[in-house]
Amino acid sequence: PANTLLPKPQMGWNSWNVFKCDIDEGKIKAAADAMVSSGMKAAGYEYVVIDDCWAEQYRDGSGNLVAHKVRFRSGIKALADYVHARGLKIGIYSSAGLHTCTASPEGFKQPGSIGHEQQDANLFASWDIDYLKYDNCGDRLGQSNEQRYTAMGKALRNTGRDIVYAVCNWGEAEPWLFVPRVGGNSWRTTGDIWDSWTAVTSLLDQQKGLEPFAKPGAWNDPDMLEVGNGHQTLTEYRSHFSLWALLNAPLLSGNNLATMSADIRDILTNRDVIAVDQDWGGSQGRLVRDLGNGTQVWAKPNSDGSVAVVLFNRGTATTTVSTTAAEVGLGGSTSYSLKDLWSKAQSTSTGSISASVPGHGVVMYRVWRQGATVAPPASGVHQVSAM
Ligand code: GLA
Repeated sequence: PANTLLPKPQMGWNSWNVFKCDIDEGKIKAAADAMVSSGMKAAGYEYVVIDDCWAEQYRDGSGNLVAHKVRFRSGIKALADYVHARGLKIGIYSSAGLHTCTASPEGFKQPGSIGHEQQDANLFASWDIDYLKYDNCGDRLGQSNEQRYTAMGKALRNTGRDIVYAVCNWGEAEPWLFVPRVGGNSWRTTGDIWDSWTAVTSLLDQQKGLEPFAKPGAWNDPDMLEVGNGHQTLTEYRSHFSLWALLNAPLLSGNNLATMSADIRDILTNRDVIAVDQDWGGSQGRLVRDLGNGTQVWAKPNSDGSVAVVLFNRGTATTTVSTTAAEVGLGGSTSYSLKDLWSKAQSTSTGSISASVPGHGVVMYRVWRQGATVAPPASGVHQVSAM
């Protein structure tokens, strides 16, 4: 059956990128509060996801996972209530192995869910959890990726609760092929992001070719956002955010929402860019042209017939990047309207889409056909101009 749980890529916040294992219930609550007060909730962010290191080292006498007694002393159900009271949803984390990936501040790794899939899924459901990120660390007991991720998919479904299932197996064993079948809503396509320009461009390059596998309910996940974590420029963070939106990627902010600057908030809440991410026009975005000098053109069709275009300058010097409406799949008109999704400037064009783009920067447009449609070519297949 079609997976209807995540018709648009998930939006939210996850504790990992900024806090790693140094988390506690206060930080999760502060993120939920800031998601509301910053305007992020109003812009579409919804899931507050607790990553690794929320649990004790042991299971209790009944075999259940136990929230960390000091850092999550009120328990996860109370935290879920807190998050839900703000109109948000809550996510949690486990691993398809004997333990999770990273040692806690106290120096241990919490148990993973292999062999306890149903018990853990039931526990999460009893806590009113809405989202599970399911990682890939710990002994696998000889099981394949497909076996391990199928087991949790079934367990979540058996709970009867709507729990988004975010698979995090780092692109192993072509998750885009089996995850949709086992009820997963997204799958990490690669290893981990970190807060650097090299990581962003390298992850971006690894998304090429995966476009056919994304669809509503089942999304490619190039990993969470590093916007606002301090090691890149605002220009670089705008590029990161624009390109992730073009890929219909999950938009999971990974910065400290309680202390972010207005500049970072403005990137994360750019509604025009978010609208591209959240729109399904039949395909995620793709590289349309590599111009060979470090500049690229990326484009994504939108459901209203427009196309989102990212003119991307991977080099360090400002340069002009150009394409045409026809090249991004919008031929057949004599005039076009363009909106620059960062500057908000509107313009018209007879087909050229071009801008001066700063080093490591993007100019992102949404382009619509306007005016008279030209006649289709007289010979050959009768062409329709829509993508
Ligand atoms: C793996 C995942 C990360 C994060 C850490 C937590 O590396 O890929 O996203 O969840 O584990 O330990």
